[in-house]
Amino acid sequence: MTDIFIHTADGVMTLTLNRVDKKNSFTQAMYGACADALAQASTDDSVRAVVLQGHATIFSAGNDIGDFLNGPVSTQESPVFRFLRGIATFPKPLVAAVCGPAVGIGTTLLFHCDLVYAGDNAAFSMPFVNLGLCPEAASSLLVPQMLGYHRAAEALLLGEPFMAEAALEVGLVNRIVPPMEANGVAQAQARKLAAKPLSSLMEIKRFMKKGQMAKVLEVMAEEGERFGQMLREPAAREAFTAFMEKRRPDFSQV
Ligand code: COA
Repeated sequence: MTDIFIHTADGVMTLTLNRVDKKNSFTQAMYGACADALAQASTDDSVRAVVLQGHATIFSAGNDIGDFLNGPVSTQESPVFRFLRGIATFPKPLVAAVCGPAVGIGTTLLFHCDLVYAGDNAAFSMPFVNLGLCPEAASSLLVPQMLGYHRAAEALLLGEPFMAEAALEVGLVNRIVPPMEANGVAQAQARKLAAKPLSSLMEIKRFMKKGQMAKVLEVMAEEGERFGQMLREPAAREAFTAFMEKRRPDFSQV
């Protein structure tokens, strides 16, 4: 599909978010394409690392809000959950290049990547509270672990964004680079990984993730269930309708 470019060369599969006119917001079809690509990459011996990248001006505005408003009820087999489980359990190295806004799942997916390179214009936010929602992608577990509880509370309870420098400081980002160079740096790092023995890469990653993989999947499923319910509740309906109508939401009644 054209909203996700998939390209494989020199042992690296690259997934490029390519819906720039809608700020690379994820549709169900885009989650499905990414989930399918990750499933293929995990068993294809010619793929030794995956890069996930956006555009120099925008990584992703998160889930498509029209899809939130009108989409079918999510189940654990929905494309979004297949994608989330796919990145959480992906057995080979996953490298991200992030420039510009990374909203909602655009930030939470990064907690599942192994290496993250950010443009100096990167802005991370998880504004679930402003949308009447709860966290997803096991972010209620992983964000406090990485940011510390109080910074996580600012990010999740207040929905406040944080910039590339703060992300570097807490370890969410490996390096800050000029936006035009971010995809190239991620690509170069992935190629370095692809030159290493695949069996070692996979065993090292498996051991690093093993300690809390079951917990991550448990929290992800629990959050996903509640998130799906909250999508139908009045606060979220008001937030999505306000976004579509380009006005501020009115939460005084919810
Ligand atoms: N879903 C659907 N469409 C979206 C979108 C989303 N998440 N984010 C942006 N778009 C669309 C806008 O509606 C607009 O469409 P239009 O040109 O047809 O009017 C277009 O993308 C450009 O967005 P705009 O808001 O004008 O760009 P901006 O540069 O001023 O702001 C963002 C960029 C990312 C900060 C802003 O678009 C935003 O906050 N988006 C919503 C993020 C969000 O809440 N996501 C859900 C997280 S769970």
